[in-house]
Amino acid sequence: MTTAEKSVAVLGLGSMGTALAAALLAAGHQVTVWNRTPGKDEGLVGRGARRAGSVAEAVTAGEVVIVCILDYADIGPLLEGQGVGRAALQGRVVVNVTNGSPEEARAMAERVTALGAAYLDGGIMAVPEIIARPEAFVLYSGSREAFEAHRELLDTFARSVYLGEDPGLAPLNDLALLSGMYGMFGGFVHAAALVRSAGGPVAEFTTALLLPWLRAMAGGLPAMAAQIDSGDYAVTGSPLAMQVSHDSIGEVSRAQGVSAELFAPLFALMRRRVADGHGSEGFAGVVELVHPR
Ligand SMILES: NC(=O)c1ccc[n+]([C@@H]2O[C@H](COP(=O)([O-])OP(=O)(O)OC[C@H]3O[C@@H](n4cnc5c(N)ncnc54)[C@H](OP(=O)(O)O)[C@@H]3O)[C@@H](O)[C@H]2O)c1
Repeated sequence: MTTAEKSVAVLGLGSMGTALAAALLAAGHQVTVWNRTPGKDEGLVGRGARRAGSVAEAVTAGEVVIVCILDYADIGPLLEGQGVGRAALQGRVVVNVTNGSPEEARAMAERVTALGAAYLDGGIMAVPEIIARPEAFVLYSGSREAFEAHRELLDTFARSVYLGEDPGLAPLNDLALLSGMYGMFGGFVHAAALVRSAGGPVAEFTTALLLPWLRAMAGGLPAMAAQIDSGDYAVTGSPLAMQVSHDSIGEVSRAQGVSAELFAPLFALMRRRVADGHGSEGFAGVVELVHPR
């Protein structure tokens, strides 16, 4: 091993665990892999990974233990099972990139720390196909010391972003980012349905019109974020009262045979904000209805 090479165990060889293990192998690390169902490691073993016959064998082969399985609830039994526990985990670093909630992450951090290992929780902002590519990033929270000691290793998956010592920060921010994504996807689906209802090609509309429009609108998010931080929602250009003066999107959608159920809840909140006396303010103030400060 060169100084940069590390011994790493990867538990869980689904599509994401396999992509992570492949990136580690490509970067020259010593990788030991384990999967509950045998047979998923053939490709990785062919590229130099070591096959572990048990969780305990994998964990004791790695100074860093990556856990990437489907459900958080199954991790505890895995790490506390036969031959694992404190004897195997003492002094190691567990990096758990299984998706879960902030509460689950905090509980797992306590559990792993009690077994003598350092803990990092990770939120992978990528699909397996873009692991090790520039657009991928992974959020981490938990032990700062562990993150700093292994940052170079973690950077082989994707750009690593450390959020703080509270283990719940990575899953919370992961879910916040997914919320933003689903808002965009919902808006896209409604827009596509409207264009299709008029017989238009959605592909051309998306590249020629929607993407430039969304890029321009996304440029306004930092200013809206600053308003949310300050609580001052004053605007000059587009007050909420103007935006909700007519339910044009809802009415035209229904006339075109497009259900307004994606858009209607948002419009209802905007109208409620105006009814509450904030019509001269901007859209960002809607946050006060979903999370009163
Ligand atoms: N795929 C993505 O795009 C993506 C993106 C970001 C984050 N993630 C997260 O990454 C994690 C893994 O996702 P994936 O896409 O790799 O899922 P996947 O392809 O469905 O694989 C699931 C893995 O979990 C293992 N597993 C399930 N239950 C287990 C148990 N009780 N004990 C031990 N192993 C168990 C499976 O083992 P068997 O082979 O034995 O069934 C398999 O290795 C999830 O938390 C997911 O949210 C995935």
